[in-house]
Amino acid sequence: MAGFAITVAQQKGGSGKTTLAANLAVEYLSRGHSVAVLDTDPQGSLGRWFMTRREAMGEAAGLDFATASAWGVSYELEKLRKSNEIVIIDTPPKIDSDLKPTLRASNLVLVPVASSHVDLWATESILDMAQREDRKTLLVLNRAASRAKLTSEVSEQLDGLPGARASTVIGSRVIYAEVLGQGKAVGEKAAKGPAAAEISALADEIADVLNQS
Ligand SMILES: Nc1ncnc2c1ncn2[C@@H]1O[C@H](COP(=O)(O)OP(=O)(O)OP(=O)(O)O)[C@@H](O)[C@H]1O
Ligand SMILES: [Mg+2]
Repeated sequence: MAGFAITVAQQKGGSGKTTLAANLAVEYLSRGHSVAVLDTDPQGSLGRWFMTRREAMGEAAGLDFATASAWGVSYELEKLRKSNEIVIIDTPPKIDSDLKPTLRASNLVLVPVASSHVDLWATESILDMAQREDRKTLLVLNRAASRAKLTSEVSEQLDGLPGARASTVIGSRVIYAEVLGQGKAVGEKAAKGPAAAEISALADEIADVLNQS
């Protein structure tokens, strides 16, 4: 892996963009890659997560970090790419032309869809924009409640959307919310738990897509 940029984007707020960005960053770090996170969301949640991590762990936080406004992304990304194998970009819950420079600079657009119809309806705009920019996308079902009828309905409809869909499903688990507030990732709190296993499986799927490019 070299200089790959993964953008996490979805119009719907609260779909899990920041959660997945943080957990995937630590997952790739634990595999020995150099990783940076780039926060382009003015809410700054990923930045807060990173600062909490730095305070708790110091140098052992292990990640590079930067923020950028929509128009400054390509410049920041160019810098981060020089010293990192993987850059993960978190974006605001808004799909408009501001996102284009970020998409153009990305190797893959990861689109989390939380298990609800409203989240599903919000998904087409990012898929359309990524397609217009000729970017690869990967849909991932997040906050899936096992055995819920709603989850299987949303999952079925995800299959009907254009572009690739991760076979990994991210469950609805309190640990995701807990660790984010501590500046950590799920694997750092429960290395053998189901959340760590699903993040690892998703990281594998993303790496496969990136290595095909
Ligand atoms: N798989 C999950 N299981 C349980 N809680 C989750 C999961 N994914 C995300 N959450 C929780 O849902 C909330 C929203 O997640 P997150 O902040 O990652 O979404 P977001 O898409 O980045 O939101 P925004 O659009 O506001 O930036 C957070 O409280 C987070 O802890
Ligand atoms: Mg966010």
